[in-house]
Amino acid sequence: MDTAIENDSELKTHFPLTPQSTLGALIAIVRNPLDALPPSIFTEPLVFTKTAGEIKVYLADPVLIHEALVKNADSLGKGDQVRRALGPALGEGLLTADGAHWKWQRQSVAGVFRHDKLLELQPTMVAAAERTRDRWLQKGQGEIDVSQEMMRTTFDIIVETMMSGGHGINVGKVETGISDFLKPTGWTFALGLVHAPEWIPYPGRGKATAAVAFLRSSLQSVIEERRNNPDDRHDLVNMLLSASDPETGRTMTDAEIVDNLMTFITAGHETTALGLAWTFDLLARHPDVERKVLAEIDEGTQGRPVTADDVSKLVYTRRVFSEAMRLYPPAPIITRTALKGFQLGEYLIPEGTVLIVPIYAVHHHATLWPDPVVFDPDRFSPEQTNARHRYAYMPFGAGPRVCIGNAFAVMEAVAILAVLLQSVRLAAVEPQPPKPVMKVTLRPNKTLRMNPVWR
Ligand code: HEM
Repeated sequence: MDTAIENDSELKTHFPLTPQSTLGALIAIVRNPLDALPPSIFTEPLVFTKTAGEIKVYLADPVLIHEALVKNADSLGKGDQVRRALGPALGEGLLTADGAHWKWQRQSVAGVFRHDKLLELQPTMVAAAERTRDRWLQKGQGEIDVSQEMMRTTFDIIVETMMSGGHGINVGKVETGISDFLKPTGWTFALGLVHAPEWIPYPGRGKATAAVAFLRSSLQSVIEERRNNPDDRHDLVNMLLSASDPETGRTMTDAEIVDNLMTFITAGHETTALGLAWTFDLLARHPDVERKVLAEIDEGTQGRPVTADDVSKLVYTRRVFSEAMRLYPPAPIITRTALKGFQLGEYLIPEGTVLIVPIYAVHHHATLWPDPVVFDPDRFSPEQTNARHRYAYMPFGAGPRVCIGNAFAVMEAVAILAVLLQSVRLAAVEPQPPKPVMKVTLRPNKTLRMNPVWR
């Protein structure tokens, strides 16, 4: 939907700039982009800054977010910074593409995420969580690295559900590859900001390039294997192989299919895993909430193993996961670039402007959330949810580019929490919670070690 600019002359074209040191911003972006957010975005509806000669608009007001991401979606593209950081691995897949190329890819894969299809995937999610629980049982006493464990579980699920098992790809190596690729993204964002040439070396670049080459060639083998041994499964691989552009009738090249498999594997497991890791840390620090979750799971399952049917009934457990993603949104910042001028509130935003929606700041905003740092799952009761603007909470983004896997992720997270918490609680090892650091996704700044306590 395109919104006409009503009357140009009444719109403001001069922006109240908040001063920001370019060097300071660059250093913060490399270390932790959350520290590069202008502090006033936690209290103000929008903030304009100028870094390296470029104006940026930060949006935290849900009304303005709706106006930008939903009403003016056609005026916005993902922009050079996103493409520069993620393009080498994800190419022009669903997350990074724009315009018509994005649209036909989104339509091609939508079927995988239909509600009835997702329900069919639930037993796979439960089974993967059971394998994790059994692995912990076998290991016996001793600390576990929760982020790592959750990554392994959600990776298992994404490969199993989207690629029907992935035909023998090396799961451990693929996992490490994704981490190696994401680690130096602070550098790619910072260098993009000052328009440095793309060949400039930076720490971790060599490892990231090698990781991407390995990941892409592993997925290429998956496609070749499926082309040689076709079957009629309704998984993502087959959807991509049979997709055809309604305008041109063309099908996807192997490189385009690899772009999308890379996209779904990366976007589809890290995020949920981190949301879960933060949830376990919060539960360990809030025994009253933990008790309520355990009681709900025990009451729902009556001592028998968790089934797919139980998952949708665990209402409080879902609220806990939602509140964990408010405090620690796995995708903490999204950005856009204006492809053409458009009206935003009382301003006329010129073509080329970079728009930043700091989901992390929206979720901690002083005017949107009472006691924003307090962990309180009851914020997601129907009454409290209905009393808020829809875009005060947006862990999955908003508008046509909203996360395609959002229902998948919530279903998966609740299934994993239910299966694990039915047998085991996790106790915190460190007295203080870790600090969140953004590396595209929101990770703990140190290993999140916890102790399993069997129930
Ligand atoms: C808790 C888990 C997850 C979170 C917090 C999350 C968050 C997000 C956000 C914020 C976006 C929008 C990015 C933007 O507007 O620039 C997005 C897009 C996307 N997500 Fe997720 N995601 C999660 C899980 C998943 C899963 C499980 C999948 C796949 C199975 C997935 C696949 C994607 C894809 C393909 C896109 C691009 C959609 C498009 O542009 O059309 N995500 N995600």
